[in-house]
Amino acid sequence: MTKLLLPSQLDIAAEILKNGGLVAFPTETVYGLGANALNEAAVHNIFKAKGRPSDNPLIVHIADYAMLDMLVTNVPQNAKLLMDKFWPGPLTIIMNKTKNVPDVVSGGLNTVAVRMPENKIAFELLQKCNVPVAAPSANTSGKPSPTAAQYVIDDMMGRIDAIIDGGSCKVGLESTVIDLTSDVPALLRPGGITYEQLTEVLGEVEQKFQCNTNEQPRSPGMKYKHYAPKAKVTVVRNDFESVINECLENYAKVGVMCYNDVTKNTSCIIKKSGNAEQYAAQLFSTLREFDKLGIDIILAEDVDDAGINLATKNRLYRAAAYNIYEKS
Ligand code: TXA
Ligand code: MG
Repeated sequence: MTKLLLPSQLDIAAEILKNGGLVAFPTETVYGLGANALNEAAVHNIFKAKGRPSDNPLIVHIADYAMLDMLVTNVPQNAKLLMDKFWPGPLTIIMNKTKNVPDVVSGGLNTVAVRMPENKIAFELLQKCNVPVAAPSANTSGKPSPTAAQYVIDDMMGRIDAIIDGGSCKVGLESTVIDLTSDVPALLRPGGITYEQLTEVLGEVEQKFQCNTNEQPRSPGMKYKHYAPKAKVTVVRNDFESVINECLENYAKVGVMCYNDVTKNTSCIIKKSGNAEQYAAQLFSTLREFDKLGIDIILAEDVDDAGINLATKNRLYRAAAYNIYEKS
């Protein structure tokens, strides 16, 4: 039985976590599926509930700087700079791990990913349970990350102990992941803290998230197919109106995601965002809502690389399996 909890019931959730159970909780990025990071059996159950490959390591969430020393061998100077500026917030930092971090958390790597979330419910929950909490996104492996409690319910009901309903997630895309264990800091996943914000603090930052087929990915999660809805997704760079018309001839239900007025055609179902932040925040929920509506094909307006768009693009292209339309 999965308990549905209100934000006023964090004591119950903290107790479940302390006792080795699984709790889904809201963060500013996406909902996480948490377990006590120091309890191997509990962490193992996360992989079971999600159907997640065991070599894909988890992010450890903390609300207290004192816990860092238990998790990492040392906190590099550039990590301190990032923490000062962006914690609590949507930034995950990879550092060298101590023996306290079980292998099941780090996927057998010598490093561990740590993040201090900003969301009030997440932060208070972490304070109350007073253990580091390992938490991937609370979706079934391969599906879009859940940005509202209903999507966690859709994927996880009956598979975990509790779900805290904290409304919609502000950022809507998973945290930025930066690896500080190499000479040059490496951006492994773009997210809510932008590349521009990182370079302002760190100087040079390598972009390591474009996964070439032959290159071994530094972040194991980047090699898996991800964020895929049931409908086919195509990213459209230009000529939107004629692409829509062509799709309407071949498919019964066409869904469009955009931030510009790309069409006047009212036969398709349109989800329009006002700006880049909103386009990011609505991406995963729109993919899920379009599936619920039985949409056959999703046409998504392309974005550039600036600010949050870099993260949107990364998730969107993978949801589309790099299926991109551009009229030359
Ligand atoms: O916003 C987020 O980060 C959310 C919320 C719940 O905090 N969590 C999340 O976790 O997105 P997950 O497991 O879906 O994504 C974690 C990513 C994966 O791509 C994983 O491979 C990578 O971080 N990762 C974790 N530990 C790593 C490590 N030691 N080295 C390299 N990559 C790591
Ligand atoms: Mg995930």
